[in-house]
Amino acid sequence: MTITMMDRAEAAERAMMEELDRQIVVKSVIYTSGERDPRLPIERRPANGKTHVMGHDPRLPRMPEHPTLFDFFRLRFGPSNHLMQSARLAQKNGAGEKIVLACLLHDIANIGFIRGDHGYWAAQLVEPYVDEEVSWGIRYHQALRFFPDESVGYTYPESYIRLFGPEYRPDPYIERDYRHALGHKWYMSARLITVNDLYAFDPDVRVELEEFTDIVGRHFRQPKEGLGFDASPSAHMWRTIMWPTKYL
Ligand SMILES: [Fe+2]
Ligand SMILES: [Fe+2]
Repeated sequence: MTITMMDRAEAAERAMMEELDRQIVVKSVIYTSGERDPRLPIERRPANGKTHVMGHDPRLPRMPEHPTLFDFFRLRFGPSNHLMQSARLAQKNGAGEKIVLACLLHDIANIGFIRGDHGYWAAQLVEPYVDEEVSWGIRYHQALRFFPDESVGYTYPESYIRLFGPEYRPDPYIERDYRHALGHKWYMSARLITVNDLYAFDPDVRVELEEFTDIVGRHFRQPKEGLGFDASPSAHMWRTIMWPTKYL
């Protein structure tokens, strides 16, 4: 690092500390539920002139005014190798652009929002901006992952046996949704997400987001106000990812 870069990093650090001296960060119940009993009253320290975060959390990198999907990938999501490698595999296997996009987005809930029922959350996040088939596929990949389909060479994932134990059986609502998907015209779209869902991804393979710029440009209707600031039914969810500690 050059001196100026270090100076700049230090200045940013100092600004953040100063900001935190003036602001109180409170976590939502869902971030702590289980670690603490959510029924217990919350201890409140005297505010001492501090105010509560009502937008940007000073500990996080600032988002641009009109955030794009890629801004979320770069500034709010965790490592997205799994998604990019799955999308690349779909491309290599000759999948259409909509399926490639679905693969790129299928697990954004796990890396940026909420893990449990991740397929449902991810579908809801992207629903207003993609073809119905894309969000439908993302929603149902969640259930289909647990059920084999030999016609396309998809077996129950080895990794699930390790992760959940050999005795694990999916919840009845997952099985119900699997059965619903089986009879649906877009079954194969959801199934293709599971076929290209790379679990044993290669840590040495580098895929850049830019590889998917054109596909996203053609199939993701980026709102001009920025994700989170349009009036779509999922805008507030994008805002929560952007401002995860906003008090109200
Ligand atoms: Fe998934
Ligand atoms: Fe996945």
